[in-house]
Amino acid sequence: MSDRQKLYEGKAKIIYPTDDPEVLLAYYKDDATAFNAQKRGTIKGKGEINCTLSAHLFRLLESKGIPTHYIDTPAPDQMRVKRVQIVPVEVIVRNIAAGSLCKQTGIPTGTVLEPTLVEFCYKNDELGDPLLTRDRLLLMKLATPEQLEAIETFSRQIDAILTEFFGECGITLVDFKLEFGITTDGQLVLADEISPDTCRLWDQSETDPNRRVMDKDRFRHDLGNVENAYEQVLARVVARLG
Ligand code: TMP
Repeated sequence: MSDRQKLYEGKAKIIYPTDDPEVLLAYYKDDATAFNAQKRGTIKGKGEINCTLSAHLFRLLESKGIPTHYIDTPAPDQMRVKRVQIVPVEVIVRNIAAGSLCKQTGIPTGTVLEPTLVEFCYKNDELGDPLLTRDRLLLMKLATPEQLEAIETFSRQIDAILTEFFGECGITLVDFKLEFGITTDGQLVLADEISPDTCRLWDQSETDPNRRVMDKDRFRHDLGNVENAYEQVLARVVARLG
């Protein structure tokens, strides 16, 4: 896979075309970034872990009726996906207050959010992925009202499925980010990845606010043992979905 063939390179994945115009190959990188790429590093083995984990979770969601871009994994760090046009909206689903929500509102970390908060950000690195209102999203025509409604419905269904599943793994799903895409035949599907890069995951057997963190917050805030945490999430998921 040479540079020339790349269709697109993001912070965590490279997308390659395949012989089938409807199918793309996503290569998951070990590169890690945070705070809009102001912090950069490498998490050894992350590419394989996030690809494998995402594959398990996409299959779980598909089995529960959620359409996704997932096809298969020809290698541990490579995923074949349906070609989609990404909706330039990052959907943030929050069950428990953490991260930017706490910074921006003063709500204490760990506050249970009822009902679950679904937020939208504009997927635009130059602008720093700003929080959107529903009206701004529609004004900017980032999605149609029908697409937005479907995105919110799917996001809440995905939250219910993943919260239950991670709970069975002894992990609390605090919050996560989703991206959706439109296939060439117009279907809205879940895209991107679901991994410790894109979720906050707390170990239910730990009460210490640093020790419980099993996600990219370990990298963002220099908590150490980043690789171990990612491996532990994968091990628990594989033990259940194998
Ligand atoms: P936040 O609290 O920083 O807004 O993050 C909310 C969730 O979204 C958290 O699980 C991390 C995830 N996330 C991403 O996947 N990509 C991003 O660029 C950001 C800012 C957050």
